[in-house]
Amino acid sequence: MAGCETVSGEAMATFAGDVVVVTGAAMGIGEATAMGFAALGAKVACLDLDEAAARQTAERAMAVHAGCVAMGLACDVADEAAGCGALERVVEAFGGLHVLINNAGITRDRTALKLASGDFRAVLDVNLTGTFLMAQAAATFMKTQRYGRIINTSSINARGKFGQANYAASKAGVIGLTRTLAIEWARYGITVNAVAPGFVRTAMTAAIPEPVKDEAITKIPVGRIAEAEEIARVHRFFADRHSAYITGQVLVVDGGRTLV
Ligand SMILES: NC(=O)c1ccc[n+]([C@@H]2O[C@H](COP(=O)([O-])OP(=O)(O)OC[C@H]3O[C@@H](n4cnc5c(N)ncnc54)[C@H](O)[C@@H]3O)[C@@H](O)[C@H]2O)c1
Repeated sequence: MAGCETVSGEAMATFAGDVVVVTGAAMGIGEATAMGFAALGAKVACLDLDEAAARQTAERAMAVHAGCVAMGLACDVADEAAGCGALERVVEAFGGLHVLINNAGITRDRTALKLASGDFRAVLDVNLTGTFLMAQAAATFMKTQRYGRIINTSSINARGKFGQANYAASKAGVIGLTRTLAIEWARYGITVNAVAPGFVRTAMTAAIPEPVKDEAITKIPVGRIAEAEEIARVHRFFADRHSAYITGQVLVVDGGRTLV
């Protein structure tokens, strides 16, 4: 279980002894999150559709952080059997499961009248159903140890976004899901929270043309795009053993974008 050490009079979380599963850990926010937990002593399982890249994240974590234990596994979060199987392998290898970061997500942008039902379903399958399935599989184990931290991924586009009917619906769904699971699983010592990022510099946003990015930045009070590590630190905050009284919350991390 996570310990706590004092640095300059302030409590700083460590995750020594905690087993942390990060979905979508091959790159972007998931990769930054996996690296951050590894730096603080967690045993980290990196899950991704891209097995080779997930393994690379785990290898990088072990190379950068001496003594770190990490593994990379193939897992499609939308596939119930694959998700359960991956979590079983993690518990078997690492002896527990304390934190699930439900980070995997996709976009298939199209205006609603042109949006194919397959692209609608695909985004819901990964972003919403995948989040539910992984949370359910993790909580089934966490319940037995009466401790767990589940952190889901919404988005500020849950409010609605031109060209993202599927994505916005999935990310709005994650908010209702998060709150409901928080209510149901509090009795098992499991907290369930979500982060709602604004614009983050990752592969997901790399394809956006520079003029569009520049225009977007003019609407962000902080005046820039977020780095993946700025979302990863929110994952660590919710995952902290001392965050036990925080559940069902959605923390918007958008540089003030939704304030204006
Ligand atoms: N980048 C942003 O600006 C932004 C903003 C708000 C929310 N988000 C959310 O943050 C999360 C991470 O975003 P990112 O920008 O790092 O994305 P990314 O595209 O850089 O990385 C996503 C990772 O998820 C993996 N993945 C996709 N489908 C999967 C599946 N079915 N099973 C397992 N892994 C799968 C991909 O292989 C990839 O490694 C997503 O849920 C995204 O919706 C991102």
